[in-house]
Amino acid sequence: MRKVTVVGAGNVGATCANVLAHDNIVNEVVLLDLKGDMAKGKALDMWQQAPVDRYSTRLVGTSDYADTAGSDVVVITAGIPRRPGMSRDDLIAINAGIVTSVTKSILEHTPNPIIIVVSNPLDVMTYAAFETAGLDASRVMGMAGILDTARYRAFLASEIGVSPRDISAVLMGGHGDTMVPLPRYTNVAGIPITELVDAERLEAIVNRTKKGGGELVGLMGTSAWYAPGAAAAQMVGAIIRDEKRIFPCCAYLNGQYGLNDMYLGVPVVLGANGVEKVIELDLNEDEKALLNTSANAVSSVVEKYKQMKAEKATEKAE
Ligand code: LAC
Repeated sequence: MRKVTVVGAGNVGATCANVLAHDNIVNEVVLLDLKGDMAKGKALDMWQQAPVDRYSTRLVGTSDYADTAGSDVVVITAGIPRRPGMSRDDLIAINAGIVTSVTKSILEHTPNPIIIVVSNPLDVMTYAAFETAGLDASRVMGMAGILDTARYRAFLASEIGVSPRDISAVLMGGHGDTMVPLPRYTNVAGIPITELVDAERLEAIVNRTKKGGGELVGLMGTSAWYAPGAAAAQMVGAIIRDEKRIFPCCAYLNGQYGLNDMYLGVPVVLGANGVEKVIELDLNEDEKALLNTSANAVSSVVEKYKQMKAEKATEKAE
């Protein structure tokens, strides 16, 4: 039996579960939320959608971690979302506690899952899940790159007037304003993007992409969910079907790109074993500098997280 658990029945978690149900690639999707009966209600609603949309995926809504036992993949979306005026980094104090306790509870019932973190600040929450789980780094990753690249591709598709399907792109770095879209690795059905979009417009699109999440928070008063939920489901699909797809994902770096012991967005090969390979691009000096700036921004939030953890440990000891 193939089973996926989605933790957090908010907008992102529910969308992810819904896309997975429609994909029809697992027998069961468990939607878990500790708050009230929301997970039960949403799962029941989606199960009632099955006869209409003709999928066989069973949906289970629960607030009991015992129901997650034996999951192949666990998607963690739990945490509070951004409100207008907040950066993703402002969420760290609350979300670090949530992601850590979710990871512990999952591991109590499934000893060796693959974990995909979606909670923000993404790169740091993925690191927190990795540290807590004690799993091989290939089994813990974060979803951000597919979403950020999708925003970049969607903006380019509108600009050129073509299908977003034909736009391929690589985007690296942290899930924040320092992310690094890479025009040199962007093409439209094989045509370099620079032949179709002039430099000034391309720069404007790169800048809009970097603030893409914030644009939506401004419009909706909370953060996005359709593209984020679908992006997480796409990662699950690549793992469950052992597709060996290349996606930008938040992955553990141990020397790659000159970075050590940190999680950051890089192109990876995703398959049944999780992150099966980190692809090292031959970046030019400008691209390397942008990536290092982004890595530094993520590292400073990791430091905050480590400090908070140390303070909590001291409080406990006292
Ligand atoms: C966003 C949130 C999910 O970028 O981080 O929309």
